[in-house]
Amino acid sequence: MSKTAKIVILLIVVVAVGWGIGKYTAPSASPANGTNAGTGTDLGAGPDAAPEASPLPDGEQTPGNDASATAPPASDGSEMVVADPDSTAVMVNKQYSLPEEYKPADLVYPDVPFIFSEKIEKRMLRREAAAALEEMVAAAKQDGVHLAGVSGYRSEATQRRLFNNYVKKDGEEKARTYSAMPGHSEHQTGLAIDLSGSDGKCAAESCFAGTKEAQWLADHATEYGYIIRFPEGKETITGYKYEPWHVRYVGKEIAASIAERGITLEEYFDAIPVSK
Ligand code: DAL
Ligand code: ZN
Repeated sequence: MSKTAKIVILLIVVVAVGWGIGKYTAPSASPANGTNAGTGTDLGAGPDAAPEASPLPDGEQTPGNDASATAPPASDGSEMVVADPDSTAVMVNKQYSLPEEYKPADLVYPDVPFIFSEKIEKRMLRREAAAALEEMVAAAKQDGVHLAGVSGYRSEATQRRLFNNYVKKDGEEKARTYSAMPGHSEHQTGLAIDLSGSDGKCAAESCFAGTKEAQWLADHATEYGYIIRFPEGKETITGYKYEPWHVRYVGKEIAASIAERGITLEEYFDAIPVSK
């Protein structure tokens, strides 16, 4: 082999190794100990450090690598990509994003009332979350509480449009307290939905807090595997204002554990604080 060929091969190896180090997979964040549920429309600020991984407490369910990253935290703690976006336990927040243009494969239209009639993107949820929502809405109805969907699944492009509109209206700093950046919204997982009363009053607005629908959700959502994802008093942990209308499907086991301990998903995975 000529000297030039050897140099070329050496350069390729050096570049490849360097790239591999840059793309390393961070360890999973895992459950920990820790409350529940503003303002803002559903579309959600916090501290500035990267989440840390830690060992699982005994008997805890593993997060299924949900918070694993394909890149190390940036110095501002902002960018890690979840390794298992299809897990119902996936944690998406200001630090953990979904893979680019992620779209769940099992989106369906839940058979529940919405505050609009069109069969459009935001009427969809992932199959398991949709089935749980149907049960939850039926149970609420039995209790005389008429829930309706406001906004479920959102594509990355939709989230980008929404976020940009909020930035125009309120400026970026404020927008980031209530709206996720594209790729960072739970709505893109197909596991989160904003709910209101069937009259649509206070839909995704702070006046939803204190309504009987909000109270019913706070009292019963976990029985159906949903959590109030952005609780009051936990803004510095979740990174977002209190959103009593935004429920997130995590499955009954995790929901029960989170409710029992009065913690957030970030605390459950011992992955706090999140960035601004
Ligand atoms: N309002 C929540 C944080 C979102 O935009 O996903
Ligand atoms: Zn929401």
